[in-house]
Amino acid sequence: MAQEERMLITGGQRLEGTVRVSGGKNTSVAIIPATILSQTPCVIENLPDIEDVHVSVETLRHLGARVNWDPALGTMEVDASSICRTDVPLELCRRMRASSYYIGALLARFGQAQVPLPGGCDIGRRPIDQHIKGMRALGARVETAHGLVTATADGLTGGDVFMDMVTVGGTINVMLAAACAQGTTTIYNAAKEPHIVDLANFLNSMGCRVKGAGTDVIRVRGVQKLASRRPYAVIPDQIETGTLMIAAAATHGDVTICGCIPTHMEALTAKLLEMGAKVDERDDAIRVRSIGAHRAVTFKTQVYPGFPTDLQQPMSALLCTATGTSTVVENIFESRFRHLAEMERMGARVRIFEQTAVIEGVPQLHAAAVEATDLRAGAALVIAGLMAQGTTEISNTCFIDRGYEHLEKKLSSLGAVIWRAQE
Ligand code: EPU
Repeated sequence: MAQEERMLITGGQRLEGTVRVSGGKNTSVAIIPATILSQTPCVIENLPDIEDVHVSVETLRHLGARVNWDPALGTMEVDASSICRTDVPLELCRRMRASSYYIGALLARFGQAQVPLPGGCDIGRRPIDQHIKGMRALGARVETAHGLVTATADGLTGGDVFMDMVTVGGTINVMLAAACAQGTTTIYNAAKEPHIVDLANFLNSMGCRVKGAGTDVIRVRGVQKLASRRPYAVIPDQIETGTLMIAAAATHGDVTICGCIPTHMEALTAKLLEMGAKVDERDDAIRVRSIGAHRAVTFKTQVYPGFPTDLQQPMSALLCTATGTSTVVENIFESRFRHLAEMERMGARVRIFEQTAVIEGVPQLHAAAVEATDLRAGAALVIAGLMAQGTTEISNTCFIDRGYEHLEKKLSSLGAVIWRAQE
């Protein structure tokens, strides 16, 4: 079982070469539940072979959908016509944050859903009050009791939803619920992340009318019967791309990441340039090179197109060896610095004041046994291991497998000395 596995990294190797980025995690976990809305079988391509996609497959099968999933090819065929239940078990919800999307999708298609409150990475408080508020605005009755969300509706009707804060999950869930509603739903203060646009494109490919995705006002004109007409390929993973860019800089390497969308990476690219790395963008590739010491920088996490919270952890690992003092402000989640406490075992010098981490760069990190406390904390420790002298041992690798497809294989292909071992 993955829980007992450790990842070992002997640091100090320069990464060099070309690597292909996988399909996006956070877009896949939204598009897979959206297949429930289709009256005809859907084919989704470019899905990553990660734990969150496996949990999504288990969820669809539990509901009664016929799913044909080929992880090696990244292709999934879903026939939702055989769905015979509208409840998701706690065991599956605990394993994935995005299980809340089954509320919106099941409500839209069947007028009911029973879904336990979602789990996912422990990075701070993660309520779903905005999701619920949005569904109520469409006429749904939504109750939460004993950790279970029960939603029912006798036909949803489009409405206006003003999000109190920008929420990726809330925007996605309301888009799903609105897709088959009668009339138009307008989501104000919507999230603008690339996966919101990808979900909108997928819904539109099934006949829905979503406009404004990528801006902060999204209009969804519901269409009662959606049907998939052609295979749909999910966009490349923005956060995996960023993690590989940071790994390239961290090892003073020369890496080309292909199959990515460089415009999604602007916030990170700007910071890497500020640190002294070289970043060249092509249509669907980014080359990151780095020689010499990196300069310390300051950044704050923000909603897209700001610096993504999901890259804060790998980026702050890189800053641990930059020259000078860096300041990192985490504005989205309150417990997203736990990787830095682990990195102190490796010689990192960090002070944390609530949502701010002050990182004093040291010339060299040293290997240690460390523990991944969440997905991106795991990625941060991998970056730290690549930079450190000696062999770093990372436990709880199951977190890394939630969201990175074959990370150690990709890094090995670039020259990293990284492998897995059983306890
Ligand atoms: N929030 C509320 N109420 C809500 C919803 C959100 O108060 O109803 C708050 C949260 O507590 C948080 C902020 O709003 O402070 C933003 O949360 P958001 O809803 O945007 O996050 P999410 O949908 O739970 C997704 C990604 C995360 C990523 C965040 C921010 C998925 C499955 N997860 O989470 O990804 O960090 O958006 O971009 O899409 C990861 O990939 O490692 C990961 C954690």
